[in-house]
Amino acid sequence: MRLRGRLLMKTRLAIFSDIHANLPATQAVRAHIESAGYDAVYCLGDLGGYASQPNEVQDEVMAMGCPTILGNYDEGVGFEKENCGCHYVKPFDIEMSNVSFLWTREHTAPERKAWLRELPREIRLVVNGLRVLLCHGSPRETTEYLFENRSDGYLRQFTSGGKADAQADVIVFGHTHVPFHREVDGVHFINTGSVGRPKDGDARAGYCALTLDAESVTSEQIRVDYDVELACSRLVEAGLPEYFAEYLRTGGQVASK
Ligand SMILES: [Fe+2]
Repeated sequence: MRLRGRLLMKTRLAIFSDIHANLPATQAVRAHIESAGYDAVYCLGDLGGYASQPNEVQDEVMAMGCPTILGNYDEGVGFEKENCGCHYVKPFDIEMSNVSFLWTREHTAPERKAWLRELPREIRLVVNGLRVLLCHGSPRETTEYLFENRSDGYLRQFTSGGKADAQADVIVFGHTHVPFHREVDGVHFINTGSVGRPKDGDARAGYCALTLDAESVTSEQIRVDYDVELACSRLVEAGLPEYFAEYLRTGGQVASK
């Protein structure tokens, strides 16, 4: 693998996740990543859902040529399940989730579903002696939310000797759409944030720039401006709820009903 030739150097990875059918955001992030010139690029899944261009987003990710992981949305759409595996509680949120999922399942082309079905659930790398695990939700489950406010004890499950020991020094994931970087018992837990549906109040597209060398693990949440209104108008014209447009405009801060 290309990384192995750089084992004693700083290695810079671009890792992005949760694109959610937002093509303008994807194109902006792709341009940023390609101009920045990383050593390698990875996608942690959830290509479809909530916005109107799941097929075009998949084309964009495939054109980037980056290894890609199966997200919960990809699993639901690819295998034509009944839902996305999201754990919503309020009736309104459940209704919106169903609208999004059924629309995406109907509008994702068969050959693209076949591509989704082939995606791996995790990728493991060794970079500069560090064991790196890339996954969508958590090391044990695509649908598990590793929120930024999980206790150290909760995250300790995935560290050495924990009941779900991930056997990794660096664990990178998405799924919650809120970026963070924490260290528990020497293991780095890094959430990449979301390209196409951020929930941290910042409407810009987000991805993680991860720098690894023998002595340090550093991450930076990169935010990229894109034409939010273009994504909004496209999803509304496609018949998806205005609520999804307001969600994009507010970085996920719109009140659910
Ligand atoms: Fe997601």
